[in-house]
Amino acid sequence: MINKLVMATNNKNKLREAREILAPLGIEVISQQEAGVDIEPVEDGVTFEENAVIKAKAIYNAVKVPVIADDSGLCVDALDGRPAVYSARYAPKGQECEKILDEMKNVPDDKRTAYFECCIVYINGEDIHSMSGRCYGTITREKRGMDGFGYDPIFLYGNKTLAEMSPDEKNKISHRGEAMKKLYEYLEKKKGE
Ligand code: IMP
Repeated sequence: MINKLVMATNNKNKLREAREILAPLGIEVISQQEAGVDIEPVEDGVTFEENAVIKAKAIYNAVKVPVIADDSGLCVDALDGRPAVYSARYAPKGQECEKILDEMKNVPDDKRTAYFECCIVYINGEDIHSMSGRCYGTITREKRGMDGFGYDPIFLYGNKTLAEMSPDEKNKISHRGEAMKKLYEYLEKKKGE
């Protein structure tokens, strides 16, 4: 029976989201910091899943209770899938959107497709399970919207960028929302076993 999970992050938004989603299962989610773990493993994987596994295993080895870890990023077709696992360090903080827009200034509208991907890994000893979600859209020609973070202002889904959506609206269609829903279903099944 799982009652408590450590999330391999200290990011407040990720924690709040995981807490809200897993609360109906009676599972408490605590941060790495709350678990007393002060390590930052080197994320040198080439896929989101590899990085999530690296983080999950490192934290699990320190706490020996069930752990979840996630990794996510943006993949742009016209840039051969970049920035992918390099999304967080693709440009100096606050300039990542400008860098993508600049690299894509000559890319026509019908070639501006992209997706966000999120992989969540659950680990409890030998039990390792990974779940991913994707959100498909296109890259705008200029930033739009004030909400969100990272590449949200240049990622168009339907007629809105993710930065023009409320957190609830975004969670319903986002890569992280989809992976989180799969995590919920996985843990719900485990509870019943
Ligand atoms: P991480 O999964 O926290 O390591 O995030 C990787 C990076 O991908 C972030 O720093 C953002 O640049 C980008 N990213 C991941 N998810 C999103 C999203 O939902 N919106 C905008 N950018 C995102």
